[in-house]
Amino acid sequence: VRSVGILGTGAHLPEKVLTNFDLEKIVDTSDEWIVSRTGIRERRIAADHEASSDLAVEAGRKALEAAGITPDQVDLIIVATVTPDMMFPATACLVQDRLGASKAATFDLSAACTGFLYGITTAAQFITNGIYRYALVIGVDCLSKIINWEDRNTCVLFGDGAGAVVLGPVEEGFGFLSFDLGADGSGGNLLLQPAGGSRIPATMESVEKKLHTISMTGGEVFKFAVRVMGNAAEEALKKAGLTKDDIDFLVPHQANIRIIDAAVKRFGLSEDKVIVNLDRYGNMSSASIPVALDEAVRENRIREGDTLVLVGFGGGLTWGAAVLKW
Ligand code: ACO
Repeated sequence: VRSVGILGTGAHLPEKVLTNFDLEKIVDTSDEWIVSRTGIRERRIAADHEASSDLAVEAGRKALEAAGITPDQVDLIIVATVTPDMMFPATACLVQDRLGASKAATFDLSAACTGFLYGITTAAQFITNGIYRYALVIGVDCLSKIINWEDRNTCVLFGDGAGAVVLGPVEEGFGFLSFDLGADGSGGNLLLQPAGGSRIPATMESVEKKLHTISMTGGEVFKFAVRVMGNAAEEALKKAGLTKDDIDFLVPHQANIRIIDAAVKRFGLSEDKVIVNLDRYGNMSSASIPVALDEAVRENRIREGDTLVLVGFGGGLTWGAAVLKW
């Protein structure tokens, strides 16, 4: 049984910035409302010609560079996304081709905003078992493509981006110490894209009714998020034989600053121990955690030996947490 850790990180964000003031011109909202209710000030939006694989390839390339791994050394590519380029082939196949990672097995993974945590948990098992040596896990979403831009309840919350990590063997005592994943499918109706699958195919009628866009019961998701963020992080810490006092950095899913604050309060953490980027990017779904991690690593905030807790929640409903020693 091998210890598995993160060997390199990367991120890629679209160039276009959409501020709260821009949104004031699109829907009946205000910068003041958005900042006070969510903490978000601006987000990145993919260009018309940009799709998830375009962002994913760039993030993946940077993560491989940081890890010092060449594309042909990659054994597995997992792309966590709910906005694949198309229903099939998997976006992971498109990424594999463009990176030239010809030896890699590939698949997409659908766990909404928890996708990155599900992805690293899955990839780590292959490496622990000795089946594979190096895995590239990419969290990418272009939620702007499936947003109803007339719905102020959702359109102010989300942004586009991609974050990636390379997983591989590390020295004993370092890397992942525990994982905790969960789901409550009974809450699937609280956050969904109803049309485009086999239940309600993409037809003129479903598009006219905007059923191909995100539908969300925000208040219920909020309550769920506050509960599971704390629980999942606590469960993962327990499995690792650690307590909240051992946390050097919390890297939470970036949906709403009030949800993050609730988790921070529960763990009694000081602000400098929490990585926050949602003011600049909004909720990038499965990309939020890996982009936040990449920024903190590149800024040299996270140092060797630090204990990190990654924790998130999302559509499904799903949740997950991981504890690792950097
Ligand atoms: N601008 C102005 N007013 C707005 C806006 C807006 N952008 N959006 C909603 N409102 C109004 C609503 O119409 C409603 O008005 P009403 O009371 O007259 O009907 C009111 O504001 C809603 O107020 P609250 O319910 O107090 O809003 P709340 O504090 O719950 O904040 C929010 C709403 C931000 C959506 C919050 O519920 C939230 O963050 N929920 C979690 C969402 C989330 O994390 N989703 C992503 C999950 S991850 C994934 O898998 C993608």
